[in-house]
Amino acid sequence: MKKRVFSGIQPTGNLHLGNYLGAIRRWVDAQSQYDNLFCIVDLHAITVPQDPRALRAKSREVVALLFAAGIEPDQSAVFIQSHIGAHAELAWILNCYIPMGWMQRMTQFKEKSQRQKGQVSVGLFDYPALMAADILLYETDLVPVGGDQKQHVELTRDVAQHFNSVYGDVFKLPEPLMGEVGARIMSLDNPTKKMSKSETGKGHALNLLDTPDEIRAKIMSATTDSLREIRFDPDRPAVTNLLTIYELFSGLSRTAIEQRFAGKGYAELKQELADVVIEHLKPLQARYRVLADDPSHLDHLLTEGASRVQPIAEKTVTRVKVAIGLG
Ligand code: AMP
Ligand code: TRP
Repeated sequence: MKKRVFSGIQPTGNLHLGNYLGAIRRWVDAQSQYDNLFCIVDLHAITVPQDPRALRAKSREVVALLFAAGIEPDQSAVFIQSHIGAHAELAWILNCYIPMGWMQRMTQFKEKSQRQKGQVSVGLFDYPALMAADILLYETDLVPVGGDQKQHVELTRDVAQHFNSVYGDVFKLPEPLMGEVGARIMSLDNPTKKMSKSETGKGHALNLLDTPDEIRAKIMSATTDSLREIRFDPDRPAVTNLLTIYELFSGLSRTAIEQRFAGKGYAELKQELADVVIEHLKPLQARYRVLADDPSHLDHLLTEGASRVQPIAEKTVTRVKVAIGLG
């Protein structure tokens, strides 16, 4: 029996290198080892205002990008969260077992609510309960995510443990699965902030669908420091971020990379970095265009994904309802 992996990605903004290196590429690389479920979390997206047409289009774009990045339909089920009613249903139930204080500690809510210009929705506060439902519905063993989501996976474990202690063995306890390198890709224009879909500044993120010219221009104008030596150094976040991206794409060791750039300047590092990023994204972008041109094939893959996961989700909801006395 393979272990089950579940992860989610929001259909908002543009997918960027942080999403790719911190999450998607790792899902692809490990998919043959696991039973994989990947969910486009549109119910999470609506915790902040969305344009309806853009949201639907983005969900399809993300699905196409996942397959273009190498997710294989015969190894991984890809589906849209709102297609499976059990996510909202279990989220409601979990809400009733999560103390307010646990939610108030979530750092992502603090950041996101500060960034909200209008009102902050109850849904945004409740985001981690829906995420816990996503994970617990499928008896998930492992949750591969970037470092920013670790706290949410820990909350999921806490809720599951709390629930099990009252009702017996209802939920399986999931573990977060994080890469050591690339768990946190920083932005190009401000290396103290993580690369994020919600930042719209032009030089902030390298998007998976950027043209080669855009990629090169963004990398060439990335922030650096005034020191000369090119090496990995946690006290120099800008150059370390560029080197980390280079490391992940080139597959070279840190020592080999430092030797390669010894005595060279930032301009050379940036040129070479742009070359490897462009080279790696080229085949992905070509596959994306083929998939995006065939929406009925994408819909077919989504229907298949949903029909694989639906019975698992329903079984869990039934077990939960019986345990707590609903129905
Ligand atoms: P999101 O963009 O919030 O939908 O995140 C989708 C996935 O990408 C999650 O697993 C995140 O942890 C991961 N991720 C997002 N931003 C970064 C980043 N800057 N570095 C590494 N991983 C990231
Ligand atoms: N909150 C995650 C993010 O923004 C997306 C997500 C939703 C998720 N549900 C999930 C990730 C369940 C892993 C498991 O990145």
